[in-house]
Amino acid sequence: MTLPGSPHIAWRGDDLFIEGRSVAQLARAHGTPLYAYSKTSMLAALASYQRALVGRDHLICYAMKANSTLAVIQTFAQAGCGFDIVSGGELERALAVGVAASKIVFSGVGKTRAEMQRALEVGVMCFNVESEAELDLLSRVAASAGKTARVSLRINPDVDAGTHPYISTGLKGNKFGIAHQDALANYLRAAELPGLEVVGIDCHIGSQITDAGPYLDALDRLLDLIEAIEARGIAIRHLDLGGGLGITYNDEAPPSAEALVKSLLDRIDARGHGHRKLMFEPGRSLVGNAGVLVSEVLYLKPGREPDGDPAGAGKNFCIVDAAMNDLMRPAMYQAWMKIVACRARHEPPMRFDVVGPVCESGDWLGKDRELAVHAGDFVAVLSAGAYSMSMASNYNTRGRAAEVMVSGDQVWLIRDREPVESLFAGEHLLPS
Ligand code: LLP
Repeated sequence: MTLPGSPHIAWRGDDLFIEGRSVAQLARAHGTPLYAYSKTSMLAALASYQRALVGRDHLICYAMKANSTLAVIQTFAQAGCGFDIVSGGELERALAVGVAASKIVFSGVGKTRAEMQRALEVGVMCFNVESEAELDLLSRVAASAGKTARVSLRINPDVDAGTHPYISTGLKGNKFGIAHQDALANYLRAAELPGLEVVGIDCHIGSQITDAGPYLDALDRLLDLIEAIEARGIAIRHLDLGGGLGITYNDEAPPSAEALVKSLLDRIDARGHGHRKLMFEPGRSLVGNAGVLVSEVLYLKPGREPDGDPAGAGKNFCIVDAAMNDLMRPAMYQAWMKIVACRARHEPPMRFDVVGPVCESGDWLGKDRELAVHAGDFVAVLSAGAYSMSMASNYNTRGRAAEVMVSGDQVWLIRDREPVESLFAGEHLLPS
């Protein structure tokens, strides 16, 4: 049976492997819950973008919100990526890895004065500005620091990305970006304000997009705008098309990055914009399929035979040691992520809701899953490389999971399991 997602996470006989390592053995060596990643899978995902962009002036800025673990950032930095950040914290992560500030773009609707100051001090490549008010503040902060902020306006093109409402960002009802109808006026203003230098234009229409159509619609809007802005004498040097390309969790069939980028390039060239520097901000499509969350089955709790049909009667629960604090996507977006036993048992499967120990009915990782597992077995949630560890919390005073990176037969511990003492280390008792 082949698995959705990465070819580097696959069965070898009865055992699930990440590259050359058995997932169950990784779990025994490092404990659970455990995030395990395939480095080869990350680099292969990046290569798909790179192939399409050979010979073009471009920068692929990994959107590190998808997975901001230092070793993951390092992997992409060494492969030549720039980075898309959305907070001062993410900026410090990139700098800690040695990323050049000149390869960092700063996105986000709510940048604070302090974040702007720090980003100017280190010299980020560009701020993706999302409102007129932000433009004004950035101008004041830059001018008073004696710096010039390079800016690109994030345009809300009002296209439907056809994805979950929480991760759709390019519709006019979303909080993101400057409405495309207001873009020209804002560019004219940006060109006048002190401390600012217009360098580009940007959009990001949503996440887990599985069709090229919305990208092409957004691209056309942006190219129209570039033409209008340049007609007013303001040069737009780069075109940033954001991230958002989806991955296969189950049976989704998004275009490859290479195919998507090629179709965008065809349109860009056809409209005579092929000379511009191109930027992308992929997150999920670089890391999503490269990771799994490994967990131990703690208990099996068979459902009662239906008698008078109380709610839940007949449901079987597979209670595992990973929970919504480790992996929030199912609870938050009803996201479907495949769950497999790390070692196949040759016995008939049962149908389970796979749930964690957290005291919430919303704490589930998968519903109605066919699994042949016993207590003590390991299960893996697949395609958990993106928005998984980076969204983990300490709810129920649970330390965050450990993480390992695998490459071929090699494995490195890239994050220690969070020790319980650190969970309340910064807290203070009231005076007695
Ligand atoms: N650029 C900007 C400005 C963004 O807001 C995002 C993601 C990206 C790039 C990267 O998008 P990607 O290539 O990863 O789709 N937590 C949600 C996804 C939230 C996405 C937020 N923005 C989830 O787990 O599905």
